Amino acid sequence: TEYTNILVERRGRVGLVTLNRPEALNALDKATMDQLVAAVTAMDEDPGVGAVVITGSAKAFAAGADIKEMASQGYMDMYAADWFRGWEDFTRLRIPVIAAVSGFALGGGCELAMMCDFIIAGDNAKFGQPEINLGVLPGMGGSQRLTRAVGKAKAMDMILTGRFIGAEEAERSGLVSRVVPAENVVEEALKAAEVIASKSKPVAMLAKEAVNAAFETGLAQGVLFERRIFHSLFASEDQKEGMAAFTEKRQPEFTHR
Ligand code: HXC
Repeated sequence: TEYTNILVERRGRVGLVTLNRPEALNALDKATMDQLVAAVTAMDEDPGVGAVVITGSAKAFAAGADIKEMASQGYMDMYAADWFRGWEDFTRLRIPVIAAVSGFALGGGCELAMMCDFIIAGDNAKFGQPEINLGVLPGMGGSQRLTRAVGKAKAMDMILTGRFIGAEEAERSGLVSRVVPAENVVEEALKAAEVIASKSKPVAMLAKEAVNAAFETGLAQGVLFERRIFHSLFASEDQKEGMAAFTEKRQPEFTHR
């Protein structure tokens, strides 16, 4: 596939996708969405890839949906195109995805980071949902995912005022899992992805599914969902290998079966 708006690389079992529209601070236009979803879908389906890192530039992870592309659209244009529908496909991917955020993650950029499984932030990161300044509101899940991530008080504060929060406040609020020096953010995310990619891919995918179930079910249903998956893994080769390796005091060699 010919990608014009992203760079796609492989580092061993890790896939790295870099948003590459520097002239627009990686604003997420339709072409970028389509290419990103296509690239990560290919990795999802590739048994040779165990985890994905998505990053932007030093200055911007992504400064939002593409305002210039949206500005003149009418209601029926948005509805007929089902604008942003492609992001739903992104959230259905089973492979673990880490966002490595340096600089601005605003609007759709913040929402894309939140669609990833976790966020590693550089100490220069700035997160915000400034859509209210444009006369709209978050449209890629921000009002829902930000609220689940940081709670009502901070989500309301950010979405109603449009103010940005820095890396430290983002970590304190539970939006990001780690803050690292900005210049190391991609390297640290690749290291985390490499750790994940060394595990059994189907087990990592099921673990992701189980955590995500916490947002869709009640506690008893969620715990039951987890236990059913847990039981099912005793039909896998990787469970036998993982537990044998522990007993034999050696590293496991997972076959992803
Ligand atoms: C299109 C964008 C863009 C965006 C930046 N650019 N963000 N183009 N869509 N979201 C373009 C600028 O127009 C400019 O192009 C170039 O990128 C560099 O940006 P500058 O503004 O010159 O950079 P700087 O002064 O450093 O300011 C950085 C910034 C600012 C604070 C991040 O660019 C900014 O406020 N951007 C918009 C942030 C935002 O509102 N995001 C939410 C988008 S709406 P030119 O050609 O002039 O050089 C969204 C909503 C989804 O995501 C749901 C709504 C329906």
